[in-house]
Amino acid sequence: MADGLRKGLTSYGDAGFSLFLRKVFIKAMGYSDDALNRPIVGITNTYSDYNPCHGNVPQIIEAVKRGVMLSGAMPMVFPTISIAESFAFPTSMYLRNLMAMDTEEMIRAQPMDAVIVIGGCDKTLPAQIMAAVSADLPTVVIPVGPMVVGHHKGEVLGACTDCRRLWGKYRAGEIDDVEIEAVNGRLAPSVGTCMVMGTASTMACITEALGLSLPMSATIPAPHAERFRSAEASGRVAAVMARTKGPKPSELLTPASFQNAQVVLQAIGGSTNGLIHLTAIANRTKHRIDLEAFDKLGREVPVLIDLKPSGEHYMEHFHHAGGVPKLMEQLGDLIDLDAKTITGQTLREIVADAEDVPGQDAIRPRDNPIKSEGAMAVLHGNLAPRGAVIKQSAASPKLLQHTGRAVVFESVEDMTLRVDDPDLDVNADDVLVLRNAGPKGAPGMPEAGYLPIPKKLARGGTKDMVRMSDARMSGTAFGTIVLHITPESAVGGPLALVRNGDMIRLDVAKRSIDLLVDEAELEKRRAALAPVVTPEWARRGYAHLFNETILQADEGCDFDFMRGQGKR
Ligand code: FES
Repeated sequence: MADGLRKGLTSYGDAGFSLFLRKVFIKAMGYSDDALNRPIVGITNTYSDYNPCHGNVPQIIEAVKRGVMLSGAMPMVFPTISIAESFAFPTSMYLRNLMAMDTEEMIRAQPMDAVIVIGGCDKTLPAQIMAAVSADLPTVVIPVGPMVVGHHKGEVLGACTDCRRLWGKYRAGEIDDVEIEAVNGRLAPSVGTCMVMGTASTMACITEALGLSLPMSATIPAPHAERFRSAEASGRVAAVMARTKGPKPSELLTPASFQNAQVVLQAIGGSTNGLIHLTAIANRTKHRIDLEAFDKLGREVPVLIDLKPSGEHYMEHFHHAGGVPKLMEQLGDLIDLDAKTITGQTLREIVADAEDVPGQDAIRPRDNPIKSEGAMAVLHGNLAPRGAVIKQSAASPKLLQHTGRAVVFESVEDMTLRVDDPDLDVNADDVLVLRNAGPKGAPGMPEAGYLPIPKKLARGGTKDMVRMSDARMSGTAFGTIVLHITPESAVGGPLALVRNGDMIRLDVAKRSIDLLVDEAELEKRRAALAPVVTPEWARRGYAHLFNETILQADEGCDFDFMRGQGKR
């Protein structure tokens, strides 16, 4: 196979001319023949003025290029789309697959022997790994790293668990306009990703557990010098991979590495989004994530990381306590230490080097977990025939077994309009139900599953209620919240049949979620549902592609034709 600049020649019907022409143009940038004859390491640039989480990307790229060149290879930076959580309409999830397609095709289209993908904000690492897996070129992943913590009136603050907590206090009238404005400038004090165990941190930890990034790369704070030394080291590793043509993602991603990723996802109190992304990544390989097996793992794997929203600390504390290598050491035989990583080392070798930090309390030992079971449980029942997920580690224990009256919102818009209506018929024991917020329904499965507590109840002191939907939830959020109900209501899932006043039973110990309405009545309601038609928003362009091909949450929300085996 051709190397470096000779790879993937543009098709002019004359390979010699194609190479000649390529060199003519690239020499316009001032490159020498010596440079052009080196193995090439492609580097994705996801810097964007709209993406503050990626604010350190230019500095990371500079360090990566240094590492690549110090090892005798040639770095070539190229842009891909960048997605920032709070700047993506309608949702960042709507764009994840577009980023995965863009990244995959740019890796394929341009000559490179290895690639470094630099990402971090929620959907970017999953998109980039999905792309790398499909392109199957030697790949090094560099997470941009978490922000450092903020401070307010002696309290440590972090985006965005504390954004939600403080906004909840503001809604409840516990803090005023002046104070909410002050914390607005203190919740995100540096560039980098959210510094709690949200989706970004979750995916960075999973990436490290999969062996696709350097040890400690998930947790080094974004502004720290160590982040840039790690980037330089990543450049060196990628240069070696470019020369030796491996290992490729297909060599690193095995049943053992996916199992490790699931163990880490449970043990960190990870984001529910992590399960969707890991499923999508696996579906691009010949391996699968089995929801039943994931749930079973959740009963065996304790939560060991004491980070918000399940615990108390922030990513920088996790880092200073020893990071993912130390966590994997504590997990002991739950981790398959023979799994290989990009450096050629096994996890066993990496764990052997884990730092021992006396007195740290961010990474707990197995005999003193913060929760004895894992972060997530998978539920089934007549409301969720193909499954639903609850982050039990961030839920109220007393609500994990609960039967209540349904208060139904038809859509995110309906919920926004009515949830604070003083005349809304709702009590603290009710179950808030949101529908039409799944992959197709909203579209893009918004993080609307964290339904706000109705203002009149919040002001009366209600902090949590059972809430359920076909939506997602930010990994930074907390509460007794059932998510990803599958199939979603917009395609006729049972969530579409719920009516105000129906009784719903949640029993997390039994892993069940049921609508307590008899089957004959449900059948009548099903027959009365309007037929599923193409909505107006999905008539053209990417929206059309999205609506026609998006898979449900249990299949990772990838496009059906992007899975490893293609469209069936
Ligand atoms: Fe980018 Fe949280 S908004 S990681």
